[in-house]
Amino acid sequence: MSQAFPHLFSPLPLRHRTLKHRLVFGAHTANMAEGGLPGERHLGYYRERAIGGAAMIVVEPVPVHRTAVLTRGNFRHQDDAIIPHFRRITEACHEHGTVMIQQLYHVGQHGDYDNAFEAAWSPSGLPSYHDADGSHAMSEAEIAEIIEAFAQGARRAHEAGFDGVELFAAYHALIDQFWTPWSNRRDDRWGGSFANRMRFSTEIIGRIRRLVGEDFIIGIAVNHDPDIAVSLSLEALCEIVAYHDQRGLIDYVTCGTGSYFDFYKLMPTFLYPDKLGAPFAEALKGAVRHARVQAESHIRTPENADYVIAGGQADMVSIVRGQIADPHMAAKAMAGRAEAVRPCISCNQMCWGRRYRDYWISCLVNPSAGREFEWGGDRFARAEKPRHLLVVGGGPAGMEAARAAAECGHAVTLAEAAPDFGGAFRLAGMQPRRGQILDLIAWYEGALARLGVDLRLNTPLEAEEVVTFGADAVIVATGAVAGEAGFQRALPECDALPGLARGHVTTVEAVMARAARPGERVLVLDESGHWRGLGTAWHLAERGHAVTIVTAAALIGQHLVRTAADFPLRRRLKALGVTMRTETAVAEWHGDGATLIDLLDGGERRIACDTLVLATAPIADTTLADTLAGSSLEVHAIGDCVAPRLAVAAILEGRRLTLGL
Ligand SMILES: Cc1cc2nc3c(=O)[nH]c(=O)nc-3n(C[C@H](O)[C@H](O)[C@H](O)COP(=O)(O)O)c2cc1C
Ligand code: SF4
Repeated sequence: MSQAFPHLFSPLPLRHRTLKHRLVFGAHTANMAEGGLPGERHLGYYRERAIGGAAMIVVEPVPVHRTAVLTRGNFRHQDDAIIPHFRRITEACHEHGTVMIQQLYHVGQHGDYDNAFEAAWSPSGLPSYHDADGSHAMSEAEIAEIIEAFAQGARRAHEAGFDGVELFAAYHALIDQFWTPWSNRRDDRWGGSFANRMRFSTEIIGRIRRLVGEDFIIGIAVNHDPDIAVSLSLEALCEIVAYHDQRGLIDYVTCGTGSYFDFYKLMPTFLYPDKLGAPFAEALKGAVRHARVQAESHIRTPENADYVIAGGQADMVSIVRGQIADPHMAAKAMAGRAEAVRPCISCNQMCWGRRYRDYWISCLVNPSAGREFEWGGDRFARAEKPRHLLVVGGGPAGMEAARAAAECGHAVTLAEAAPDFGGAFRLAGMQPRRGQILDLIAWYEGALARLGVDLRLNTPLEAEEVVTFGADAVIVATGAVAGEAGFQRALPECDALPGLARGHVTTVEAVMARAARPGERVLVLDESGHWRGLGTAWHLAERGHAVTIVTAAALIGQHLVRTAADFPLRRRLKALGVTMRTETAVAEWHGDGATLIDLLDGGERRIACDTLVLATAPIADTTLADTLAGSSLEVHAIGDCVAPRLAVAAILEGRRLTLGL
């Protein structure tokens, strides 16, 4: 038993296997298949988490049937050709003592026509909550076809060396659609009474067991969503899980949050509390006698996971995004080095945000995610010729470059002009509920200090000072400066917003840095569609300012849609009385108000306000890089000083550069 987190790091028997501890890397669509087959990207991704100590990995779902295909990176359905490809993954992960499970799914009415090119099948032909399509009510023969498809999917998993399968009965997927009276309106033997609604899942599991024998784990993934009236109540869910448990059909159950009706809680961002799914797991613990219960959803840290197990809320815990962010979470925590775990910031930017756009997933804080096969995992090889590197600028690009270079054995000096590290990222961390960003900056500070990086705050460097410093190479990461001209994409003919000289104009950066004192009524001109503008608007509204947001986009939080944070944010802004004007631009600033232009009909109206806050595009600070370009120094520019972007680009460039130095 581990000394650190003794409850989490204790073994757990699970059917014919014993988990070495209770921290699981749960199911999620990594969307990495090529030609429907798991390749090098997939192998590297899972192997890294096995090396990093995960006790069990639930590999992303295989769609069991042609009508179940959902993403571009989905695996081939109904094709034995995948077996040897999966075998490479199970063998590589088994080497590290990881129990390997495969999820199997069919989302029924919520299919994706653009990827499946098939009508979605469902119990009663209800519409999709994924797109605008309707679905096809399955015939008796079609139900039999899908039961067999699930069973054949399990057989393939068995032959590929998986220790078991997890049936996706969560978030209102097909199995769940049969369980839920709202979506199962059938009056034949598949609908109506409780036993009839259980028939589909019971027959799938029975058929799987007959095909694969006794030495094979069968788990089910369920969810609970108390905010949705038509979803199964917790009581009904407990009854269903108990029914399967009493019949010995399931070895474990895992309970997620949110659903197709409410994607925002499915991968909860920092807008939601920690340990969101733990109370539901606890309720299921009271309902089962044999099956293991897994808690999931925003458990985030080994501390939280240990708390959940210690309190008897669950037998095991899935942490998905936390282990995307740090694949070695389990090993570090077990070794008593929890402070070395790189924290996930619950942003959804590159994990769900890329899956949402149907790309393979990665991670904002860990750009090696999905690139393990190219980069040698989330690990560092010692540089053949260690050098002395000077990094100028301590924002995310500079911090990551300095950290990665020091990990490779280079001697690194990191110089930052401000009194703190973090740059504009620190300002983001000061917006409401975004403190996890400050935790990440603190993690960087700890890592940089541990690695012996020469850290110099309050150290602005001119080009001559950089030259005389005498480093072997210079990495310029000087970031961007706030755009102060009020340029709006909707009015490209205006380089500058008319009337800015009348005053009472500031930027989101100045507001968050407490360098500006906005008046009572504030107009936020949001060109970001993201947290930069909207988090600042929220910050101001929380402090009692009367805030109006103007955007040319059709939606407030246009670029937050991919992160499933836009709706909860708009709900909060509305609750704070924020006025939101979409498809609108600012035609002129008057010093005490603005003329707004409706982009749909060109109509103008004047509103009164005290301060205009610009969330317009920042401008790359190229001064140092440009001046050094003429010197004999080896100079590399990374991050926002190349082009202003989100933090993800800064961290990726910081890491990628050092791999080649
Ligand atoms: C990119 C991504 C894809 C996901 N896909 C699936 C999936 O295919 N099946 C599933 O059961 N859960 C899926 N999930 C949900 C996770 O299993 C988990 O419930 C969710 O991420 C919350 O847990 P966490 O806070 O530990 O990340 C996905 C999550 C993410 C981030
Ligand atoms: S992209 Fe954001 S939410 Fe997703 S794993 Fe990385 S840090 Fe966490």
